[in-house]
Amino acid sequence: MYYPEELVEEVRQKNDIVDVISGYVSLQKKGSNYMCCCPFHGEKTPSFSVNRARQIYKCFGCGEGGNVLTFVMKYENCTFPEALKMLAEKAGVELPKAEYSEEARRREGRRQRLLEVNKEAAKFYYYQLRTDRGIRAKEYLDKRRLSDDTRKNFGLGYAPSRGEELLMYLHQKGFTDDLIRDVGLAKVDERRGTTTQFWNRVMFPIQDINHRVIGFGGRIMGDGDSGPKYLNSPETEIFDKSRNLYGMNYARTARTGNIILCEGYMDVISMHQAGFTQAVASLGTAFTPGQAGLIKKYTKDVFLAYDSDGAGVKAALRAIRILRDAGMSGRIINMAPYKDPDEFIKNLGQEAFQERIDHAENSFLFEIRMLERDFDMDDPEQKTNFHNQIARRLCDFGEDVERENYIEAVAQKYHIGFENLRKLVVNMAAKTGGFAVQTMERPKSGVQGRNRNTPEENVKKSQRLLLTWLTDYPQLYAKIKSYITPEDFTEELYSRVARRMFEDIEKNQFNPAGIINMFEDEKEQSEAASLFTTKLPELESEQEKEKAFHDILVRVKKNSYAYYSAKSGVDISALSRVIEGKKALEELNKTHISFH
Ligand code: UTP
Ligand code: MN
Repeated sequence: MYYPEELVEEVRQKNDIVDVISGYVSLQKKGSNYMCCCPFHGEKTPSFSVNRARQIYKCFGCGEGGNVLTFVMKYENCTFPEALKMLAEKAGVELPKAEYSEEARRREGRRQRLLEVNKEAAKFYYYQLRTDRGIRAKEYLDKRRLSDDTRKNFGLGYAPSRGEELLMYLHQKGFTDDLIRDVGLAKVDERRGTTTQFWNRVMFPIQDINHRVIGFGGRIMGDGDSGPKYLNSPETEIFDKSRNLYGMNYARTARTGNIILCEGYMDVISMHQAGFTQAVASLGTAFTPGQAGLIKKYTKDVFLAYDSDGAGVKAALRAIRILRDAGMSGRIINMAPYKDPDEFIKNLGQEAFQERIDHAENSFLFEIRMLERDFDMDDPEQKTNFHNQIARRLCDFGEDVERENYIEAVAQKYHIGFENLRKLVVNMAAKTGGFAVQTMERPKSGVQGRNRNTPEENVKKSQRLLLTWLTDYPQLYAKIKSYITPEDFTEELYSRVARRMFEDIEKNQFNPAGIINMFEDEKEQSEAASLFTTKLPELESEQEKEKAFHDILVRVKKNSYAYYSAKSGVDISALSRVIEGKKALEELNKTHISFH
């Protein structure tokens, strides 16, 4: 859906950034800014600053910045259109409805219809849990120590023994048997007619990231009850088990910077109840690459809280590989002596679990530790085999430094001499065709900073500085416009921003937050915001300021000159820039630019 720029701008202007951000975090007024601890990275002293006049925010710790739309996208982990919708609603601005093709409209209509069936069914189950008939289910949930809030939060319910009641209820709401079947709530059989999928079970509605019910899981309440422990909805048009995760609708806004992946619905619910709202689980099937992709939209940092039994370890080893293939890092939470997070938290509580998170094991070391179980270390031959296997796996690290670090860690842990293991690894690589080629992007730990001090970064920094100077002193533009053009900003995004900024200043309607709207991508918005908010040197006197500004201007111009000179051999249009640049530089050297 495309929204015209004027509309986006209207929505932005009607949502004051200080008001909106105050709705999420508590801001403190400091001078002309509002400050707080940055919600996007952990910190103890506030470096997150919101500026009402410019309608932008910026964190001087992690570099995150943007306008009110960027903030909402980032905080809510949502897309640009979603953020726009939210803010439009808040301000009472009406957005045009999408114009779909006939076919798309029909498909969308059907999806909506299927979702409605599920929503009504969830309501029905929810209500049943609160009637006399649901008493056993209620007692079951009491026994599992789930609070009322938790039950409400996860929409837990009860499917009564007599399936007809759900059918009657859904018929009353106007849904046909076919639709009820297509959403997986019933089977239609010639002999037995329509029969419901779930009866006499505690019901767990499964929601997508937008809180829509896409399927159900149902659990028996006692050992004597018939059927499998958990029964799930089959895959349907709206229920793709490989691309959704239980609990993700809450985990996406958990703001912990990580996700905890567990095996069961109950684990997720217990964890959320204990405050670990970043917990999710797959849907009665093994973890998939599609689910890894879903998580990766929010974070690359995943903790595994799988069962401590044999099946759990096997599932964890699989999940580790899937995460690794997706370029994410996994760490394993040790649940011993308990079976799963639910039992662990019930017995040892929230703090003990947090400690286990803090001491989670690196996934590679976990793999090696599990591998060790297959070998008898008292037998020299088996021990050698084990060492060879370790060496083979170490070859998978394509980056030298990383590999060395792992060699060191493993050598220490398994009492192998570092040099010996290293030799083993090198020999193994020679035998098996070298080290892995590093193609995959590797997860980096901690806050992603800019690569400081590379020549490219220094060039970009001076371009950012120049634009920030002009943001603070727009009147300077008139004095430098004969020396500088948007093309002097050699980064594509910078140049686009500069062009628009210069035009706006000429028209006397420069506003940074509006320029950020040119971009829909959150990263680009943040990058654009950085052009208005780079930290300027703190200078007292006019003279110092003028000198600093002049220096930056010359630096940008020099870089542009070098950039186009290098290109002029292959690109004719670059040549005229070189000539123009040379002239401008000469003039600049003789010119004094005053701040008045
Ligand atoms: P578990 O057997 O580990 O159950 O199954 P649990 O999470 O500990 O549940 P409680 O504590 O006994 O209630 C983990 C997950 O595997 C799927 C479900 O998604 C469950 O949450 N599962 C398990 C099934 O789909 N069917 C089954 O019969 C059992
Ligand atoms: Mn359990």
